[in-house]
Order: sequence, then C-alpha cells, then structure tokens
Amino acid sequence: MSKVTVVGAGFVGATTAQRLVEKDLADVVMIDVVEGLPQGKALDMMESAPIEGFKSKIVGSNDYKDTQNSDIVVVTAGIARKPGMTRDDLVNTNAGIVGSVVTEAVKYSPKAIFVIVSNPLDVMTYLAWKKTGLDTKRVFGMAGALDSARMAYFIAEAAGCLPSEVDATVLGGHGDEMVPVPALTKVKGKSITEVLKADKIEAINQRTRDGGAEIVKYLKTGSAFYAPSSSVVRMVSAILQDKGEVIPSCVYLTGQYGLKDVYCGVPAKLGKGGVKEVVEVKLSPAEKEALQKSAEHVRENCAKLNL
Ligand code: NAI
Ligand code: 2OP
Repeated sequence: MSKVTVVGAGFVGATTAQRLVEKDLADVVMIDVVEGLPQGKALDMMESAPIEGFKSKIVGSNDYKDTQNSDIVVVTAGIARKPGMTRDDLVNTNAGIVGSVVTEAVKYSPKAIFVIVSNPLDVMTYLAWKKTGLDTKRVFGMAGALDSARMAYFIAEAAGCLPSEVDATVLGGHGDEMVPVPALTKVKGKSITEVLKADKIEAINQRTRDGGAEIVKYLKTGSAFYAPSSSVVRMVSAILQDKGEVIPSCVYLTGQYGLKDVYCGVPAKLGKGGVKEVVEVKLSPAEKEALQKSAEHVRENCAKLNL
C-alpha cells in the first residue's frame, strides 16, 4: 500500500484524508500543529471502516517522524480566507507555515512528491519547491483541477447534462486572473460553442473566476473543501496509479507557453515520478496573453518572498 501524508487536519486536509482511505488509495498519516486534532479525526475515520469497508489505515500525529517514507505529501496547512479577503492576503501567514511544514516533511521523505494546496496556491508551490530543493517534477500545486471542475459543473447546469459529461479546462494562476478556456471545453464531446450562447459562456467564465469567493460568501468563516479535496484526490490517484492523466496543475514552466522559471496552471500529464510532461495546447492570442498576464502576477508575488 502506498503512503500519503496530509499536512493540515482542517476542512481540506481531513476531507482529503477521508476520500483517500475510503477509496483505498493509500495508507494516510494526517499531521497538524494542534494536539489531538489529527489523532481524533483519524480515529473517528478508522471507526467508520467496519461500515464503509475500506482496508486502508489512517493515523493522526503531531510528529513528522510518523510521516517517514511517504510517497506523496499533500500540504493543506495554513489559514483560509474570510469574506472580503483575496487569496493573496494570506501570503505572509501561510508562507511561514508552508515553509516550516515542507522543510520538516522533506527530511523524513526525501523521495516524496509534494502536492501543495495552501493559498495563495502558486506562490506557496514556488516556496515549497525552493524550501525542499526537490526537482520541479516532484513539487506542484492543486488549483486547475478545482477551477475546471467548477466550470464543468456550471456548464452542466446550463446545458442540462450530467457534470461528468463535461470536460472543462481552466489555466493560469489560482486567482482572479485565472483563464477559463471555452475552446478546450467539451460537452458530450461537442464544442461548448455549439451548446451554449456566447453571453452564457462568458457568464460561466466569470462565475468560475469567482467560484472560490462564492463559497466563502456563503460559509463566512472558511472556504471550500469538498470540491478541493476531490481535486487533490484526482491528482494523487493519477500519480499513485501512474495514469498519465492530463490534469490542469500548477507546474514549473521552462519555456512552454512563452513562460520561463515560473509556476503557473497548465495541463500536465501526471504519473509515477510526478509531472511526466507539461502539455502545450493551442491557445488563441487573447488566451495566451491572459495566461502570460496571470503568470506575471504570480512571478511578482513570488519575488516579494525574497527567496
Ligand atoms: P482550515 O483552517 O480548516 O485547516 C487548516 C489546518 O492547518 C488547521 O487544522 C491548522 O491547525 C493547520 N495548521 C496551521 N499551521 C500548521 C502547521 N504549522 N503545521 C501543521 N498544520 C498547521 O483550512 P482549510 O479550509 O482546510 O484550508 C487550508 C488551506 O487550503 C487554506 O490556505 C486555503 O486557502 C487553501 N485552499 C486551497 C485551495 C486550492 O484550490 N488550492 C482550495 C481550498 C482551500
Ligand atoms: C477556492 O478556490 C479557497 O482557493 C480556494 O475555493
């Protein structure tokens, strides 16, 4: 059985851990700075095993020794935003937390793949790469999978089909400048432009960009976690099962899309070893420009960390 460490036993971390064990994808170690929190949630999950029928094991701990030899480390530690806050507002607090978490985790699992979730996502992924010193193929972030799932759901609602019949693509940084790409979005194999009118597509693009804020507005004290945890598990499953599945992910670019030495969301083939390939899809000049603008925003914020 593979071993996955999930750091952060809050909403995203605990739901991710639950989905991982219920799908029997891996044994899980859940770590949190709060004493008792990961232990209590892990025990509660194990007590559901006789009913749910899963064979995987989950333990909670405050000690990184228990994470030794993990195949994957998922980092969800940090604070979440409240109404009125942007993801960028979290940078100072979360940089300290993510920096210390990955520095500890890599000591015990130097061969692990790190999937970063904490916000601001693209900046935290860059920070995790710098702090771990790992190959860029082994450090990447979850955002595009979530933003694309949101877009797919909104399209399914408008087109009156099943969400699973929609294949949507959102690129760019995980922020207000993310880039939904309708041209790459298919409904039952048909182009979205054949199914929905242009103004409806534009409204869906905007709702996708505001998708995180829409949930924060409802919850008031935190942010989304059901779709985020599903998105993390999709990535973890692609890696552990060496699927080579192409999933929009925050990866390090080395010239693709005209972008170099920056982390940004683009389609990536994920499997054993992490990022197997950054996939270059054809974008319109306007989409390419929007992607570059979004990446420049990430680059400016990364520079502020002075790493
Ligand atoms: P939460 O507040 O429920 O959980 C965060 C957990 O991190 C808490 O249990 C806290 O005790 C723990 N923590 C804090 N400092 C720690 C440390 N030094 N070591 C270990 N654990 C520590 O927050 P939630 O909702 O789980 O969100 C977590 C993060 O994920 C936030 O930054 C949020 O913005 C981000 N997020 C990112 C998404 C994405 O698409 N990339 C989607 C959803 C959330
Ligand atoms: C989201 O998009 C908070 O980034 C998180 O829901």
